[in-house]
Amino acid sequence: MLQHSIITFAPHVTRRVGYNALVVGSLRLTASRSFSSSAQRYNDLNDRQAKAAAVGPHKHDASSPSLSVTAINHNGDISHQNKGTHGDWVLFHPVYAPEELKSVEVLHREATCFSDKLAANLVKFSKWGYDLVSGFRHKTIPPGTDMTLEQLREGGYVLNEKQWLQRILFLESIAGVPGMVAATLRHLQSLRLMRRDNGWIHTCLEEAENERMHLMTFMTLRNPSIFFRAMILGAQGVFYNLFFLSYLISPRACHRFVGHLEEEAVATYTKCIKEIEAGRVPEWSDLPAPQIAIDYWRLDPNSKLLDVIYAVRSDETSHRFVNHSLANLDVNTDVNPFALQEPDMHTKGKKIAFERPESEQYFKETRDMLRKVSADS
Ligand SMILES: [Fe+2]
Ligand SMILES: [Fe+2]
Repeated sequence: MLQHSIITFAPHVTRRVGYNALVVGSLRLTASRSFSSSAQRYNDLNDRQAKAAAVGPHKHDASSPSLSVTAINHNGDISHQNKGTHGDWVLFHPVYAPEELKSVEVLHREATCFSDKLAANLVKFSKWGYDLVSGFRHKTIPPGTDMTLEQLREGGYVLNEKQWLQRILFLESIAGVPGMVAATLRHLQSLRLMRRDNGWIHTCLEEAENERMHLMTFMTLRNPSIFFRAMILGAQGVFYNLFFLSYLISPRACHRFVGHLEEEAVATYTKCIKEIEAGRVPEWSDLPAPQIAIDYWRLDPNSKLLDVIYAVRSDETSHRFVNHSLANLDVNTDVNPFALQEPDMHTKGKKIAFERPESEQYFKETRDMLRKVSADS
């Protein structure tokens, strides 16, 4: 049966390896195509050459040429995929250095214009609504208290592991929607207008998939009740349609909304990490990382759930930075400055966003780097 499974998946393996070879080739092609003339001026995010450069090979593929490809079903049976399929079926693998995981700060961007204030307040309202429905209370532990963990939990001062998981699962099921909506609409616009998208679609798709991988990771810890699933069904129906319509009206405000939503995600995971490290979620203190997380984030096989939560928080930090930065651009004409490369967590963890001139500068530096790679090869 195992042999059958490998044969079944063999074309996939070949395609993937072939794809990596293509990536290496196209890196050179893009570099030579886009940077062949030094007389051309690359100082603008909506420059024609900038747009051509933004649709090159992906940063993660270019920097991770040795992806391990093991398309093998745990059970050797295609009908049991849901119980655990190993394989490199995802768009990319976020991999973090240990110091990157610790260089994340909880940040908030102050809104300055009407649409930014609206986006920030909508996130606040959504959070308030969810706290109300889920019965979550923001109670501070009294200083110097001698309450036991049980008493703290009963008093609503700390969450138990089930409450943490419920909060995370709901957050992740919602967070996976905006990237897919944005990618869908930009994809359709590209088809409709028969023109390039300036490199935004992949970043939006990656965010959506990244959020879904968060959900899949935490789903290995719990099988939610029918009531919880019904709540997610309703929330998705409402949120997807509202976000879809909103993105048609103002993509910029929608990216700002997501930026604020991700601020909340970073704050939530930061609190969760603190609680685990303080010993207030003992059920998770020594829990091994799920296999799906080890595969996705390329973690050490002996990693713990806490390591996974650190990685998830770094992902959310990327989303925070990218969406707030995109909201500072002209969504119709500017190139996605992160189409080829993103700053590392030392920047994204401590800075809420790039203003437009910073995006322009960053993209210019990326192009210069590619030009140099092209010249050296
Ligand atoms: Fe997430
Ligand atoms: Fe996120």
